[in-house]
Amino acid sequence: MTADAGPVLVFDSGIGGLSVVRAIRAELPSASLLYVADDAAFPYGDWEEGALKAHIVELMGRLIADVRPAAVVIACNTASTLVLPALRERFDIPFVATVPAIKPAAAETETGVIAVLATPGTMRRDYTRELIRRFASLVHVRLVGAPDLARLAERHLRGEAIDRALIAEQIAPCFAEIEGRRTDIVVLACTHYPFLQEVFAELAPWPVSFIDPAPAIARRLASVLEGRAATSGGGRAFLTSGGEPGDALERLFSGHGLSFGEG
Ligand code: DGL
Repeated sequence: MTADAGPVLVFDSGIGGLSVVRAIRAELPSASLLYVADDAAFPYGDWEEGALKAHIVELMGRLIADVRPAAVVIACNTASTLVLPALRERFDIPFVATVPAIKPAAAETETGVIAVLATPGTMRRDYTRELIRRFASLVHVRLVGAPDLARLAERHLRGEAIDRALIAEQIAPCFAEIEGRRTDIVVLACTHYPFLQEVFAELAPWPVSFIDPAPAIARRLASVLEGRAATSGGGRAFLTSGGEPGDALERLFSGHGLSFGEG
């Protein structure tokens, strides 16, 4: 990698994108990262599509002008499934997206019943429905837009107690039994959800496999960069609200090799 290139900008509505940072650290340990959590606008899953698209394009324009990143990872399904074409059209830098891993789940299922656990926004997207139509037309797909899981994951990551009964309620629609065949794969289609995966496994009515797309995103980033990125191995994290992260979150950032704030 080259030292004069910009960092990789990793972007999410909150801190769920750290599940992607974890995989990037494993794949590209020397890349410099800037993590931006658009917490001022969290959660994206509740936004109306037109307003969310305009908001992200405008914010991305400012970030790209300030940071001059080597590449941008949109570590958010709710954003990627909506704004990717608009971003690629406007900005001449590589974008790596996070979209629901429906294709591998459809290829790997043994029972022919899979679930896609997303936010309400990702559930509604034409993009998501098109992925199901193209790659999973021969399997039964439960598409679940959980209204509260991203918020619960944020609380969990900030060290607050979480309501397990509420989590059980939100994941329940993933578990289908159709003519004796049960869901065997749950696609984690929101980057916040891998942080709750252990809790999901404990609360699941029967064992399932979970697919987290983060390692595939990190591999894609490595191939797109072809060595073009700054290489301190360090990184910074930034909240668009301008707020303070608090101790738990600051520790979490630091565990991902990110120090908080501008500097
Ligand atoms: N982390 C985001 C995703 O992957 C969503 C959370 C939100 O609703 O803002 O979809």
